[in-house]
This record gives sequence, structure tokens and C-alpha cells, in this order.
Amino acid sequence: MKKWILSLFGVTAIASLLALTPSRTTAPSADPREDSLAADRAKHVKAIKEAIVGKEKLPAEQVFKNIKIFKGQPAEAVLGIMENRWSKTLGVSCSHCHNLNDWASDEKGDHKIATDMVAMVGKINDEVIAALPSYATKDRKPRIGCSTCHRGEAHPGRPNGARPAGGPPRN
Ligand code: HEC
Ligand code: HEC
Repeated sequence: MKKWILSLFGVTAIASLLALTPSRTTAPSADPREDSLAADRAKHVKAIKEAIVGKEKLPAEQVFKNIKIFKGQPAEAVLGIMENRWSKTLGVSCSHCHNLNDWASDEKGDHKIATDMVAMVGKINDEVIAALPSYATKDRKPRIGCSTCHRGEAHPGRPNGARPAGGPPRN
């Protein structure tokens, strides 16, 4: 009887492990839209990495054609920011800001806005927050970044934003 109960436990444990394992590795994320964007971003980054192979660690301005913000940063780090920070923070893929036939082009409005937003974030951190009297004596001052406002939205603060309502905020 005892053996029977134990083996039943064993079988249940194995069955639940089997049930868990595939669902952990293959389950889509809570937001299917993000999954398709992630695949699209990864595809573009892979293609660019193949095109710049051997030059990943060189300063971005030596590898790419139109670098103004990220001068001095390794080329691969710029791709990391594009894929893992800006795109995710805004809930978009590369084509939101880029002409996919000419990555260096800044013809798209969002490319210009992103450049302006970098300057804005710098000003808020280095001038506005740095001058806050309540933090004057503190070593650690607050800092903001794109995700402080965007949180997965291209249009933060719009009640009916680009994303369907009800989705969780993303970084
Ligand atoms: C929010 C807008 C935005 C998104 C989204 C974005 N980029 Fe960018 N990207 C920029 C801006 C702005 C620059 C210019 C950076 C600079 O001046 O240093 C840039 C520069 C680049 C460059 C250098 C081009 C050159 O020749 O000068 C590449 C390559 C690039 N991005 C790839 C990507 C890829 C791949 C994705 C998607 C994974 C992506 N970007 C998503 C705004 C964006
Ligand atoms: C202080 C809040 C704040 C911060 C920080 C911020 N943004 Fe924005 N951003 C906004 C607002 C507000 C809009 C206008 C949204 C709208 O059009 O409804 C906007 C719009 C944009 C757009 C245009 C989106 C579109 O589809 O029209 C881009 C691109 C963008 N931001 C990129 C960035 C990037 C990159 C950073 C970090 C370097 C950043 N933002 C930081 C508040 C912020």
C-alpha cells in the first residue's frame, strides 16, 4: 500500500515536471505582440552583426555612417541599446525609427525625436535634477531614463496609446 502511494507520488511528480518543462521553455510571453517584435528586432540585429563581423568592438563612428550620440561606444553596444533598450522601452521594432534599406538615414521623424529625447534626458539629469535643492547635499541623485516615461509605450501619457489597453507596462 505504502509502496503504491510512493510510486503514485513519483509518477505524479515526473508527470508534473514533464508538463512544466515544455511550457517553461516554449510558452509565449504574456504579450504576443512583444514576441513578434522581438523576433523582428533579432532578425535585423543578426543581419547587421553579420555585415560588421570583426568590427564589433570598434568605436561605432568607425563602423556606422551617421553616429552622433554614441561616439566612442563599441559598435556592438550601440546595437544592444537599439535592440534591448530603445525598442523595448517604446514597444516598437527598428522600422519605427529607421528606413530599413538605409540604416544610416535619419529621415524618419522618430529618429529625430529619439535624438532630441536623448538631449532632453541629459538636460533633466544633469541640469534640472542636479539643481534640485532637496538633493543638494545628497551624493546619490535621482536619474531618469527613457523607460521612466515610456514603459513599453511609444506614446506615454496618451489614454488610448498605441498599445491595446490592459497590457502590463514593460521596461
Ligand atoms: C527610438 C528610435 C530607434 C529605434 C527603435 C531603433 N533605432 Fe537605431 N538608431 C536610432 C538613432 C537616433 C540612431 C543614431 C545614433 C547616433 O547618433 O549615435 C540610430 C543608429 C542606428 C545604427 C547606426 C546606423 C549608421 O550607419 O549610422 C544602426 C545600425 C541601428 N540604429 C540599428 C537599429 C536596429 C537594428 C534597431 C532595432 C533592433 C534599431 N536601430 C532601433 C534610433 C532608433
Ligand atoms: C520625461 C518623459 C520622457 C522621457 C524621459 C523620454 N520620453 Fe520620449 N516621449 C515622451 C512623450 C510625452 C512623448 C510624446 C508621446 C506622444 O506623441 O503622445 C515622447 C515621444 C517619443 C518618441 C516619438 C514616438 C512616436 O511614435 O511618435 C520617441 C521616438 C521617443 N519619445 C524616444 C525616447 C527615447 C529614446 C528616450 C530616452 C533617451 C525618451 N524618449 C525619453 C516622454 C519622454
